[in-house]
Amino acid sequence: MEQSYKTPHVYSVDGNPSFSQYPIRPSCPVLVPTLKKQNTDRIKACVILILILALIILVLLACGIFFIFNLRSQIEKITQKQIKEAEGQHAKFTGHKQPIKPSENIREAAHLTGKSSAANTLLWDDTKDIAFTRGVRYKDGGLIINETGLFFIYSKIYFRNLICVKDLELEQTLFVRTSRYPKDMILMETKKNKYCVVKDTVWYINSYQAGIFKLHNGDHIYVNVSNTNLVSFDQTKTFFGLYKL
Ligand SMILES: *[C@@H]1O[C@H](CO)[C@@H](O)[C@H](O)[C@H]1NC(C)=O
Ligand SMILES: *[C@@H]1O[C@H](CO)[C@@H](O)[C@H](O)[C@H]1NC(C)=O
Repeated sequence: MEQSYKTPHVYSVDGNPSFSQYPIRPSCPVLVPTLKKQNTDRIKACVILILILALIILVLLACGIFFIFNLRSQIEKITQKQIKEAEGQHAKFTGHKQPIKPSENIREAAHLTGKSSAANTLLWDDTKDIAFTRGVRYKDGGLIINETGLFFIYSKIYFRNLICVKDLELEQTLFVRTSRYPKDMILMETKKNKYCVVKDTVWYINSYQAGIFKLHNGDHIYVNVSNTNLVSFDQTKTFFGLYKL
């Protein structure tokens, strides 16, 4: 009952047919196109603005990147300079500028073989067969040192005889003759005794000595032997040599 009452009430209000053609309605279609045009213009403006902003941001970014790179290279330059300065100071402090390169000089060495003797001093072959000298000179039984340093020196003397002379002492002495000292300086000395017991029998004995010594430029090294007549001058049995450490 209430619904049926309400509906006629509404119709009674809009009962006038002139109401359906209200004058406000026609004005709307005129307004819509201008609004649309304005909207597209605004969108265009917005897009342009955004593009300009994006461009500005890109330019700023590029500037920033350039600035950072510049700063980095400058920092690197400064660090390298500081490192160089620190190295320089370190070198000054420690006393050497650059790492010491290994010497490219040829190491002095020599192997001399038995040849003969002059009085008690043995004479040697320095070029024959296995004999050689490198960086040192041989002259009149002596090896002449060319460069100061540590040297390993060795000498082997082969004594032999057909008869045994009892209690005959066999001696070899390795010595240096130098301008720094008035007398011969003995470096090594070897004595052999009781190498034979029975009279009139063949005997042989090796006398070997070796050591490390500091030698100076210009030093002469010789080997003296007590009984040169008992020395075998076979190149593989009696020899004398050295090499620089
Ligand atoms: C070595 O022998 C020579 C003779 O040939 C002699 O003049 C010299 O004093 C000797 N030196 C040593 C250290 O025995
Ligand atoms: C001795 O050393 C010098 C350089 O110090 C060199 O020129 C010379 O050839 C050397 N002598 C020998 C015999 O090797």
